[in-house]
Amino acid sequence: MNDLLFSPEQHAHAARLLAEFNTRYNSSLAERAVHPDVDRATLRALINSPLPHEGTSLDALFEEFENVIVPNATHTAHPRFLPYVQPSPNSLSAYADHLAAILNQNCTLWHLSPSANAVEQAVTGWFANLFGLPEQSSGIITSGGSMANLIALTAARDHYLGPNAREQGLQSQTSPLVVYASDETHACIDKAVSVLGLGTNNLRRIPTDDAFRIRLDLLSDAVAADRKSGRTPFCVVGNAGTVTTGAFDPIEELSQFCRTENLWLHIDGAYGALAALSERFREPLSAIGLADSVSLDPHKFLFCAFEAGCVLVRDRAMLANAFGASPSYLSQSEDPDFIDYSNYGPQLSRGFKALKVWWSLKHFGADKYAETIDHMADLAAYLAEQVTRRDGFELMAPVVFNCVCFRLVGLDEKQNEQVLKDLVESGAAFLGPASVKNQRGLRACFMNLRTTEADIDYLLDQLLTIASK
Ligand SMILES: Cc1ncc(COP(=O)(O)O)c(C=O)c1O
Repeated sequence: MNDLLFSPEQHAHAARLLAEFNTRYNSSLAERAVHPDVDRATLRALINSPLPHEGTSLDALFEEFENVIVPNATHTAHPRFLPYVQPSPNSLSAYADHLAAILNQNCTLWHLSPSANAVEQAVTGWFANLFGLPEQSSGIITSGGSMANLIALTAARDHYLGPNAREQGLQSQTSPLVVYASDETHACIDKAVSVLGLGTNNLRRIPTDDAFRIRLDLLSDAVAADRKSGRTPFCVVGNAGTVTTGAFDPIEELSQFCRTENLWLHIDGAYGALAALSERFREPLSAIGLADSVSLDPHKFLFCAFEAGCVLVRDRAMLANAFGASPSYLSQSEDPDFIDYSNYGPQLSRGFKALKVWWSLKHFGADKYAETIDHMADLAAYLAEQVTRRDGFELMAPVVFNCVCFRLVGLDEKQNEQVLKDLVESGAAFLGPASVKNQRGLRACFMNLRTTEADIDYLLDQLLTIASK
């Protein structure tokens, strides 16, 4: 047998080391510092070595992982890890990823991965049904929301450029294509716009109202002004959960506007679209099915381990229009029951990410997710209540979802930033920065399966202690 392969005994040994580590790690999380106190020189000395020509034993690798990698890792599953839009993973994902790696399906041409292909279709079908997208819709599991948004905007661009889009690109375009999104929109839309050659000068950042929702009157003015000056408006990006305050743009009104103006409506739901699993958040998300495309992130509100995003399009032909390819060295055998996913996105080789998404929904069930999402919103409401009730803090934005933007009163912006930095460095908790209507403060986003109200109390006490110094 080749030396790169394990014997059955080695497999059993590796599985035991893995299981033991997993149990030890999960039960020790709360005692760890959320953020490591990284001694860079020591870390580099421990990790950097000349290219090894001889092998290292499995036991030594696991030992090094536990003694060097883990203590210098940020513990994203720690109960007080609350920055950004970043959940702690559900326990199942690690096992699904493990199985996916063992089976090593290449989820590109369907005949390289028939059962994985059926699974990916099943989960994207569940999502399409959740949003009420039509029969001809379809989608693909991606690395995350950024890639999902890039794929959606590519489909929109190529649709608007017409039949020669792929051959001519933007080079024959005399009237610049313009994209519109609120000023609360995630920076990955800027990235997508620049990757697609549209130029970020052609991304109009439309101001938001007091609830951080896109101003439709200003959107309408901007589209009219661009048409008047000879530009070509083609796409509006709406948010199902803005990255800082978690606001939901008025999706139904956006869809009416886009229909009238013949614009592609993409909903960036990386953060919040899956909140539609909960009755509490269904209403603001009920019109997602009217959009031309929508992104969502199973590695956010399904608590799948990184990476798992998804993009859905209203008309599956739009994906094939942008990404379809049949080079001579790939034998594609069309079959109405299967999809060649290489025609739905830029990747050729793709792993079986859909397994952890499928398993998570099957194992925990949609109702458990609805409860969990509500619980996250309840934790945010609890923090908001404490911030309002206690001396020393104030809210910076209304709390509509699972995140809270707040600051320490009596301290200026720089001092708030310093308190945040000191808090993270202390290892007691990890919050993120917030910039709300040009004022800087702190942000806690509740997506952590271990956080309790006691953690929130502790966190506020820590902030006051640091501030008093
Ligand atoms: C609204 C929004 N869009 C897009 C993204 C990017 O998603 P990802 O990190 O999965 O690429 C995020 C990430 O937090 C987000 O909140």
